[in-house]
Amino acid sequence: MKTVNPLIEAGASQQPPVARQQLETSGLADEGARDSGKPFIVADLYKAFTQEGRTLVDITWEQQRLHESRRWSVMEMLAAIDVEGVTQSDRLLVWNAGRAELTTKPGADRLTRQADAECRRWQGKNDVLSAIMQACGTWSRYWNEEEAHHETSFNRLANLFGLERVSDDTFIEFRKIFPDDDMLRTLTLLSISEIVAAVNYGNCARVIQEPGLKALFKQVAADEIQHMNYFVAFAKALVDSGEYAAKEAFAVAHFFLRDGGEVHGSKRQRVEQRDTHVNWWDHLEYREGMYSPDAIDKKETLIFNALKRITGITVSSAEEVEDKWMELVGC
Ligand SMILES: [Fe+2]
Ligand SMILES: [Fe+2]
Repeated sequence: MKTVNPLIEAGASQQPPVARQQLETSGLADEGARDSGKPFIVADLYKAFTQEGRTLVDITWEQQRLHESRRWSVMEMLAAIDVEGVTQSDRLLVWNAGRAELTTKPGADRLTRQADAECRRWQGKNDVLSAIMQACGTWSRYWNEEEAHHETSFNRLANLFGLERVSDDTFIEFRKIFPDDDMLRTLTLLSISEIVAAVNYGNCARVIQEPGLKALFKQVAADEIQHMNYFVAFAKALVDSGEYAAKEAFAVAHFFLRDGGEVHGSKRQRVEQRDTHVNWWDHLEYREGMYSPDAIDKKETLIFNALKRITGITVSSAEEVEDKWMELVGC
């Protein structure tokens, strides 16, 4: 099945040269996307509503076009995999991915509800922001559907490989709904979570030999990059509205990038125990002889790039993120 790469519209690609090049190598940046008629992500939503006269119907149409152009079939993708030809260590990558993807549905369900609540909170006070929140909540239906592809393909495969099955208790535990937080913090966290997932899956695709499984990981990594681009667009629109402070985006980035931060996932010395919800990156299990897709540098570079697109502020190291965060907080 043929899918197309997610595009971001003209004006969205004002990144520093290195990061820009990285996006281009992922097939993402396309300055002519809008003119060419190809589906694209509306990256400057605030401008679209305030200067271009676009409405929620217009924005939703673009979301639908992009979603439809990128649809793929889990059943066709799994049918192309030679199950017997997959090595033991590659099977474990699938097992980890399946468990991690179980947490995406509660994330998307929460976003739907919170974005609609925020939409109504801003109605009459800042109607552009209210529309941006509604665009975000509307998009969450596509996000949820696409994550369903990831979850079911990996968990079905893990069963076909004869690996330890996800119990109903674990399934239900991983479905716990995330607690609400400031919307900019939430969208920044989701952007970073998609970056970590995309880099992990991209690295898995590189080491996997079986062509069908390699293609599946590549497809899922491309989906995660598309999700990251949407979250960055919504987060940027919140900052552009003037109602949300850039310091919140930096606070979340620092949480990931600090010494022993979340970007190190389950390899941190101390992983917090929570009763409220499951962070998927805390629950990856790396066993003897198993490939572990770290690529911390790559994740950091993509996080710096996301911060630039969300806030307009350039940073290029974890220390600079911390310094800028302290400065914005007023310390
Ligand atoms: Fe996913
Ligand atoms: Fe995703």
